[in-house]
Amino acid sequence: MRATGAPAPHTGRTGAWRRRTLALGGAVLASALVLAGCGSSDSSSDSSSGAGEITVYNAQHDSLTQAWADEFTAETGVKVNLRNGGDSEMAAQLVAEGSKSPADVFLTENSPAMAQVETAGLFADVDPATIAQVPEQFRPSTGKWTGIAARSTVFAYNKDKLVEDQLPVSIMDLQDPSWQGRWGASPSGADFQAIVSAMLELKGADATKTWLEGMKANAKTYQGNSAVMKGVNAGEIDGGVIYHYYWFGDQAKTGENSKNVTLHYFKNEDPGAFVSISGGGVLESSKNQDQAQQFLQFITGKKGQEILQTGTSFEYPVGSDIAANPALVPLDQLQYPAIDPEKLNGPEVVDLMTAAGLI
Ligand SMILES: [Fe+2]
Repeated sequence: MRATGAPAPHTGRTGAWRRRTLALGGAVLASALVLAGCGSSDSSSDSSSGAGEITVYNAQHDSLTQAWADEFTAETGVKVNLRNGGDSEMAAQLVAEGSKSPADVFLTENSPAMAQVETAGLFADVDPATIAQVPEQFRPSTGKWTGIAARSTVFAYNKDKLVEDQLPVSIMDLQDPSWQGRWGASPSGADFQAIVSAMLELKGADATKTWLEGMKANAKTYQGNSAVMKGVNAGEIDGGVIYHYYWFGDQAKTGENSKNVTLHYFKNEDPGAFVSISGGGVLESSKNQDQAQQFLQFITGKKGQEILQTGTSFEYPVGSDIAANPALVPLDQLQYPAIDPEKLNGPEVVDLMTAAGLI
C-alpha cells in the first residue's frame, strides 16, 4: 500500500473558482461547497484545492488506475489519492472500517471482492448515467457497482511441450491424474480465486471440491500470474491457468518471459473461459459523492475506456462501445459463460480452497 497524495497546491481563489466552475457545473459545485463547509473526517476534502479530492481503495493494477486518475484530474481538477492493495485485503479493510472508511471509491481486479462489499451494504447506487454506459453483461443486476474492465482466463502453454491436440478441452480436465506435475497456477491470488468462483457458480460445490483436490495433487503453485507464466516459459510446467493480459503485456515489452508461451482459450462456455469483471463502486459513506460518482463515470466513459484500448494494461474495455486493443482476441469470440458477477462467492471459494490445502 502506498499513499500517493501529496498536499494539494494552494491555488489562487480566482483560478480555483474558475477551474471548479468549468469542471463541475453549478449543481455539483453547490454541493461541493456544502461538503467543504461541513468539514470531513477525511483529510482529502481540502477546500483550497478547488474541485476537491477523492480517496480510491485500488485493487486494480496500479499503473492502470494511475493512468485513469491522471487523466481524470487533468479533466476535472479533482485530485485522486490512491491506496493500493489486493482485492480481498481491501474488501476486508472496507468491511472492517464500515461507515468510517476514508474511501470514496473501490476498484478491483475481480468481482468477488465487490460482491463482498456489496453484501456488507456499503455501496451507494451507481449513477444511472454510468450504468447506461456499461452493457448489462458487464455489471451486476443490482446496480450497486459496475464493471470497469474485463479479463479472460487462458491456459498459457509452452509451445515446445504441447501441441494443439494435447491441450485440455476443458479446465475441468486438469484434475485428471494425467496432468500430475504438468500445470500450475497462483492459488493465493484473487485472479485465480475468481476463476474458481466461476467454476463454483457453473458446476456446483461438489464438482469444484473434487477439482480442487485434483489441483492439489497435480498443480505446481506459484506466487502471482507472472511467476506462473515464467514457469511455463522455462518449461518447469507444460501450462498454467492465468489471465490473458500477462502474456500480451510481456509480448509488448521484451517478450523474454513469454517467448516460448502461447495462449489457449477454452471457449465453449467452459468455466475455463470465464471472463472476470473488474469492478468499481462508490462507498455510501463517502463525503465526496459527486466527485466519486464522476470518477466512476469517467472510467466507464469514452476516455477512460480508451485507456484500456490504447494503453499497456491489455485488459478489455467494457463500456462506451470502445473496442479492445486490436492485438487481443475480441471478447465476442471467446464464448465465455454468462454469469451475474454479483453471484460469485469469494468466501466460499476461500473455504473450499483452504479445505483442499491450496491456501
Ligand atoms: Fe492481475
